[in-house]
Amino acid sequence: MSNQPVRVLFVCLGNICRSPTAHGVFEQMVRERGLHERIEIDSCGTGDWHIGHPADRRAAAAAARRGYDLSHLRARQVIPADFDAFDYVLAMDAQNLADLEAMRPAHFDGVLSLFLDFAQQVAEREVPDPYYGGEDGFDHVLDLVENASAGLLREILGADTAR
Ligand code: 4NP
Repeated sequence: MSNQPVRVLFVCLGNICRSPTAHGVFEQMVRERGLHERIEIDSCGTGDWHIGHPADRRAAAAAARRGYDLSHLRARQVIPADFDAFDYVLAMDAQNLADLEAMRPAHFDGVLSLFLDFAQQVAEREVPDPYYGGEDGFDHVLDLVENASAGLLREILGADTAR
């Protein structure tokens, strides 16, 4: 790996359901592999309704059932400077991506894409918003996030060895 940390930002609408789930899952995967000083992780929302709030209790409970801790996370809103601070800006759905594309500065040379671009053997391209649905929506988010997190880590490690 290069000496510069790789910086990853997960983005959804509210930063209380999907992107904190991705944050917590990817963080644990990175820590388990001893890569936490080489890969920096954050999450945020395109909206401002939940700034300062912890993860939605249903998201936190579903994550905890699989051994992921989201309790340290607090919502924040994306800012233009995030494009200077992160190498990967990963959107949960197409609307998040469109909102980020509108903010993207011309000089940004990192990756701005859908998070599920890194998932394998999944027909879905977007992580569906579970906020107004039932409990099983949060488990589906976790399934997609675990899959894409594994692919993202492979991409980062592979990209690094190629440097
Ligand atoms: P998230 O879910 O974008 O996955 O954090 C949502 C949370 C809150 C709202 C929408 C989506 N909301 O409209 O308040």
